[in-house]
Amino acid sequence: MRIDIISIFPEFFGVLDISLLGKARERGIIDLGVHNLRDFTHDRHRTVDDTPYGGGAGMVMKPEPWGEAFDQVLQDESSVVIFPSPAGERFTQATARELALEPHLVFGCGRYEGIDQRVIAHTATRARVREVSLGDYVLNGGEVAVMAMIEAIGRLVPGVVGNPESLTEESHEDGLLEYPSYTKPAVWRDLEVPPVLLSGNHGAIAAWRHEQQLERTRRVRPDLLQP
Ligand code: ADE
Repeated sequence: MRIDIISIFPEFFGVLDISLLGKARERGIIDLGVHNLRDFTHDRHRTVDDTPYGGGAGMVMKPEPWGEAFDQVLQDESSVVIFPSPAGERFTQATARELALEPHLVFGCGRYEGIDQRVIAHTATRARVREVSLGDYVLNGGEVAVMAMIEAIGRLVPGVVGNPESLTEESHEDGLLEYPSYTKPAVWRDLEVPPVLLSGNHGAIAAWRHEQQLERTRRVRPDLLQP
């Protein structure tokens, strides 16, 4: 998979050199390009924003640098462009699963009050475009949201996670929150591991884990159980 990121803070993405994603890049499974939006400006101040038409607080990102950045980065109609935005559709595990199948993702990180809407409209004439929100809260810009999305998507790309079974037994994969996990020692600070996990009875363990998933989901996220 090829991933391109366009941002005025390319340094943000230095952490993608490390951990699971860093290894996936070393092994050639994920190919990453980070582009500084200011490299596509032509004025002395490398200006990327301006005041909003119609008035109002804050600044809006100008369309011209974005257009030139996409001219360089977009390949063909196989590209999917993702604009992180609190006004977008909700990013879920299902979104991550869909995007993990794509050959080319481009993330456009907005700052300030957003990007001139014509950038989104124009990009949609030459690629599939999705405006995606991490949740119902406002971040200062798209960079942190993109880091989260890349981590959620990247670990689902075949070959990135060593043991693919670990991907199916986690929160949100079956619509429930995951069951609690324990490791050695069997007693720690007077707290015991639930005895069923030491029983060796695989049927009983599976039933206990499922019950824990249901109990946790009912208690913490009852909305997930609504039809
Ligand atoms: N940019 C600012 N807030 C955001 C959010 N909640 N999700 C995605 N991108 C954002």
